[in-house]
Order: sequence, then structure tokens, then C-alpha cells
Amino acid sequence: MLHPRAFKVTVVWTLFLLYVGSVVHATESSLACPDWPTCFGTMVPEMTGGVFWEHLHRLIAGGLVLMFMLATWLARKETQHRPWILRACVAGLVLLVVQSVFGGLTVIYQLPDMVSTTHLSLAFVFLALATVLAAATAQPAASGEDFGPGVGRRLSILAAIGAGVVFLQSALGALVRHTEAGMACPDIPLCLGRVVPPLVNLQITAHFTHRVLAIITLLLVLYLVGWAYRAEVPASLRKRLAAAAFLVVAQVVLGVASVLMVLAVAPVSLHTLFAAALLSVLVWIATVSRQER
Ligand code: HEM
Ligand code: HEM
Repeated sequence: MLHPRAFKVTVVWTLFLLYVGSVVHATESSLACPDWPTCFGTMVPEMTGGVFWEHLHRLIAGGLVLMFMLATWLARKETQHRPWILRACVAGLVLLVVQSVFGGLTVIYQLPDMVSTTHLSLAFVFLALATVLAAATAQPAASGEDFGPGVGRRLSILAAIGAGVVFLQSALGALVRHTEAGMACPDIPLCLGRVVPPLVNLQITAHFTHRVLAIITLLLVLYLVGWAYRAEVPASLRKRLAAAAFLVVAQVVLGVASVLMVLAVAPVSLHTLFAAALLSVLVWIATVSRQER
């Protein structure tokens, strides 16, 4: 069967697209193409400077739409006895169209905060959906391995809560980024020299809340992984759990590095990528354990 692989490729492709999208912002290339859907009136502009990143991002986005359509077509037989897969595919295609329009609106209206923040949030929603499809269709490969009694159910709930918290934290992170609040607390671990800074404006409040929610996210994901390692879970899931633990720790390190390195391109772009990868791994764990329970 080809469609499980096609959905997996879609997930990896989306991660790459998210990373390049983040580089677009970090390199201040967001308005390098002043028009949309063309770039300087053409689909094949000279790929130099900021145009390289902005137009590359658009080309990868176009490729993602084609890839996801191919995966949907390949899955057509499975959708006959699992109709929800077809509904999820249609929702995914609608999301991609809406997402592309939001991408265009960021350019046409010159980066309004809420449009840019929504652009990141919708990207994460699409990534989660593509991951559910990849995990649900890849399921037969993992069969034969069992959970202990009640373990699958509890793990799926914990992983779903973890994914929800990572999503909220990421949307808040995008707000921090697009309201120029990345350096609202230039010191770390304190914020403006205080454990709790004076929350006098949106920037300081958003930045400080992002740090507090980071601690909650870290503890929650590490608790989930520790609990699952002690419980009876299939060996194939242990690898994903180890990946979740690595990603959440690395994500906090990258967040700290982003501040210490005054929002340098490398740490902030990897910070977006690792957040997305963490979300995807947790959604995968939640989907697989829900089906196995
Ligand atoms: C042709 C369609 C698209 C256009 C014109 C477009 C345009 C842009 C632009 C201009 C930025 C920089 C935004 C800023 O600096 O605030 C950006 C960032 C980004 N794009 Fe797109 N985009 C498109 C499609 C997509 C798709 C389909 C996805 C994902 C499914 C996506 C995910 C992202 C992400 C994650 C960022 C980083 C946002 C952030 O750093 O907060 N884009 N895009
Ligand atoms: C698990 C924990 C964390 C997650 C899931 C997370 C996620 C994110 C995401 C998705 C963004 C938006 C990136 C974008 O729009 O492209 C962001 C922005 C940001 N995060 Fe985090 N973050 C976490 C922890 C931290 C920590 C501990 C810090 C340290 C202070 C931090 C500092 C920042 C900063 C400064 C930005 C803005 C970057 C910019 O302006 O370019 N984050 N975060």
C-alpha cells in the first residue's frame, strides 16, 4: 500500500515547509515578493536575496498541495470502509487552500500580527491532521504489539493533552514573534531582573506567559514519557516517546538560545521546526495508542 507512505512524506514535507516559512520571517524576506500569487509578476523570478526564501516557501507550499492530493487519491480504496479518512482528507485540502490565502494576505496587507499568527497556527493544525492520517493508515505495521490493560487509553489521553498544550504554546510563541516581543525580556532566567516582571504591556505579558507555559509543557511531556516507559507499551512507541523527550528538552534549550543570541536566524528557525516536530510526535502517539487500546 502506497498511501501510508504518501501521508508520511506529507508530514515530513510539511515540517520542511514550516522550517522554510520560519526562515522567511527570520531573514526578513516576508515582503521580498511584493505581490501574490505571482512574485514580481512572474512564477519564475530571479532567485536571489529574500526572493529566494519567500518564493522557495511558495513553491514548497504548491508541492505540498500536490503531494497531499496524491496521498488522498492513493487512499481512495481505504476510504470506502473508513469514510472518516476521506472527510479528513477533504478538511486537509480546504485547510491548505485557506492557509495559502492567509499566506497571500500576509503579503498583500504587509504582515498584520494576527494574520501572521494565524498562518502559523493553521500550519500546525494541518500538520496535526496529516500526522493523524499517517499514523492511522500506518497502523497495521504496528499490530501484534499490545498495551497493558487500560494503558493505551490513558496514553492516548495524556498525549492528546500534551499535543494540545504544545499547540497553545506554539500559537502563543507566534504571537510573541509577530508582536516583536521576542526580546521583551532580554535576560534569562529572570525577566527584566524579576521572577515575575511588571506585566505592563502585551509584549512583556506574552513573553513571560510563553516562558511559564514552556515549564508546564516540559514537565507535562517528561511526565508522560516517564509514565509510559514504566507502563507496558509497544516497543515501536518507545522510540516515539524517546523522541518526544528529546524534542521538548531541545525546544527549551533553543528558546533560551533564541533570547541569548538576540533572535539569530538559526535558533529561532529551529525553534519553530522543533515545536512542530514535537506536536507531530505527540499526535502520532495519541492516534496509535487510541486505536490499539
Ligand atoms: C502560496 C502560499 C503561501 C504563501 C504566499 C505564504 C507566505 C508566507 C510568508 C510571507 C511568511 C512570512 C510571514 C511573516 O513574516 O509574518 C510565511 C511564513 C510561514 N508559512 Fe507560509 N505561505 C504560504 C503557504 C504556506 C503553507 C501551505 C504552510 C503550511 C502548511 C505555511 C506555513 C508557514 C509557516 C509555519 C510560516 C512561519 C510563520 C511564523 O514564523 O510565525 N505557509 N508564509
Ligand atoms: C516546549 C516549549 C516551547 C515551545 C513548544 C515553543 C514554541 C514556540 C513557537 C512555535 C514559536 C513561534 C515561532 C514562529 O512563529 O515561527 C516560539 C517563539 C518564541 N519562543 Fe518559544 N517555545 C517553547 C519554549 C520557549 C522557551 C523556554 C523560551 C525562552 C525564553 C522561548 C522563547 C521564544 C521566543 C523569544 C520566541 C520568539 C522568536 C522570534 O521573535 O523570532 N520559547 N516558541
